[in-house]
Amino acid sequence: MSSDKDIMIEAVDVNKEYRRAGAIIRALADVNLKIKSGDFVIIQGPTGCGKSTLLNVLSGLDLPDSGRIIFDGENIARATEDRLSRLRRQKIGFVFQDFNLVNTLTAIENVESVLWPTVLRQKEIENRAISALRDVDLLDRKDHFPVQMSGGEKQRCAIARAIIHRPRVILADEPSGNLDPQSEKDIMDLLKKINQEMETTILVVTHRDLSAYGDKTIRMDRGKIVSIK
Ligand SMILES: Nc1ncnc2c1ncn2[C@@H]1O[C@H](COP(=O)(O)OP(=O)(O)OP(=O)(O)O)[C@@H](O)[C@H]1O
Ligand SMILES: [Mg+2]
Repeated sequence: MSSDKDIMIEAVDVNKEYRRAGAIIRALADVNLKIKSGDFVIIQGPTGCGKSTLLNVLSGLDLPDSGRIIFDGENIARATEDRLSRLRRQKIGFVFQDFNLVNTLTAIENVESVLWPTVLRQKEIENRAISALRDVDLLDRKDHFPVQMSGGEKQRCAIARAIIHRPRVILADEPSGNLDPQSEKDIMDLLKKINQEMETTILVVTHRDLSAYGDKTIRMDRGKIVSIK
């Protein structure tokens, strides 16, 4: 029997509904899953099946209607907003389809911005940001603004921002959704490298077939998990 200490995130009987114009949408229907520490998990399914909703409840950005979310041993379905935001700042790195970079900040400032406000000295922040940019092979673009970077470069910058605080978990929602096939491969290879070298647990949501990159693929359809392989 595997110890529960190895489990990074667990969802138990999670349900979430949305009501719109009198109709009820079951965005998550009796979802149960266990993500082991260090796993690289692909969550795949068609548009509207509940993938983003799942990531949002797993990270406490959104609350389930019922069920439990155990994140690193803590039931976050009952945590206060303060506790949740601290947990996200300390333990999670987020990566989005549209990069979510701040256009008025350079690459290195975007990466540093996750640590603000902070008690760290500026030199220490800068050293960490440089190290994160080196990890994603983007140091030569550190003073570029987002408009001066390609899509693939912007996503690598966003990944540097996601790893600067050495999170236990990276949650990536369609990280290659706006990228060409070569950049998609580069980004997935980079996430794989981070997973292996930093032992970061990684969940990648996608509607494409990226299962080759994962240790495990969770398939969803209409709010339900239909297979875990
Ligand atoms: N705030 C909301 N209000 C009402 N309905 C919502 C809301 N957010 C999501 N939904 C509905 O819940 C379902 C799941 O949405 P979700 O965004 O999780 O899907 P998804 O799998 O991420 O889709 P996509 O691949 O298009 O991003 C959809 O039917 C969506 O329309
Ligand atoms: Mg989505």
